[in-house]
Amino acid sequence: MPPAPDDSRFLKACRSEPTDVTPVWFMRQAGRYLPEYRALRQKHSLLELCHKPELATQVTLQPVERLGVDAAILFADILLPFEPLGLGLSFAAGEGPQITRPIREAAQVLELPPVDPAADLGFVLEAVRLAVRALPRHIPLIGFAGAPFTLASYAIEGGGSRTFAVTKRFMYAEPRAWHELMRRLAELVGSYLAAQARAGARALQLFDSWVGCLSPGDYQTYVFPHSQRALQLAGAAGVPVIHFGTDTATLLVDFARAGGDVIGVDWRIPLDVAWERIGPGRAIQGNLDPVALLAPRADLERRVRDVLARAAGRAGHVFNLGHGVLPETPVEAVQAVVAWVHGG
Ligand code: CP3
Repeated sequence: MPPAPDDSRFLKACRSEPTDVTPVWFMRQAGRYLPEYRALRQKHSLLELCHKPELATQVTLQPVERLGVDAAILFADILLPFEPLGLGLSFAAGEGPQITRPIREAAQVLELPPVDPAADLGFVLEAVRLAVRALPRHIPLIGFAGAPFTLASYAIEGGGSRTFAVTKRFMYAEPRAWHELMRRLAELVGSYLAAQARAGARALQLFDSWVGCLSPGDYQTYVFPHSQRALQLAGAAGVPVIHFGTDTATLLVDFARAGGDVIGVDWRIPLDVAWERIGPGRAIQGNLDPVALLAPRADLERRVRDVLARAAGRAGHVFNLGHGVLPETPVEAVQAVVAWVHGG
């Protein structure tokens, strides 16, 4: 008999309970490094894959079948709420996301329409329901959303950024509008995450991918209360919540204080040092450098074993990368990592 879903090793680790072996999944485990994903992308755009629940389900399952990971992550994108927000979203080949009507004036914030996840992002919730039905019982589905700061940065920059200068200028020059925008985004993603849990997601991840560009003081002033609100709304759904960010070494105490049952950390801080800072009672997710998957195999193995040694068998470690799988990653390297983490 496969274990009941709540006894899966991934969910146990999220609750800081001991497991037989360390659970493992990968951020961006569904994506361009997989030939079967690239084959589907020949026929459908990224947004089409997200909008059609049958296709999103198919992509969600691909890495589960290929890799033997302990959790599935829903195939979707953190920027999908920009469509009902009226910001306009497209993905240009090789250039990343483009937002057609970025927020540049304070007045635009008050004009943003309210978003009801059930009505406006119903296709995502339908994909959750379909994927849960299609997955093996012992593989929980992770739902996700972008954190208020990371979403605000795309909404204001109009795309990706290296310095986040447009975002920070808006934040410093228009603090009232900034807090109003963050307040609205926190309510949106909090209720969206809770809706994904009601549709069957058994864990939720809040992606604050770019929050590490902020000083600790600015994190505290401009971001913390809003992340806390989003995490509180998500947590009320009763499933474990993973709070993920990159480059958070200097923010980690406040970042963890904002909430989350599991704190996702990247490779810029050793896992044991991060865990020490986060303190007892929380699980940790991470933290192999995605580029390690491009290293010679012996070197990759050494790095995987180093992460495991730093976790030292303590309950509450979910093995993952510190950020997403890169498109140029060999599938065999990802499979090897799963085997080592599972005790091979
Ligand atoms: O397997 C999974 O992780 C599930 C699917 C998933 C996607 N995006 C699909 C996708 C998830 C969890 C995301 C999250 C996401 N999207 C984040 C947070 C995680 C992170 O990597 O920091 C961010 C910042 C985005 C925004 C986004 N979407 C960018 C910057 C890009 C282009 C560059 C890139 O990283 O690929 C996307 C496109 C995107 N979203 C792709 C996929 C598989 C690749 C595009 C394609 O197939 O053409």
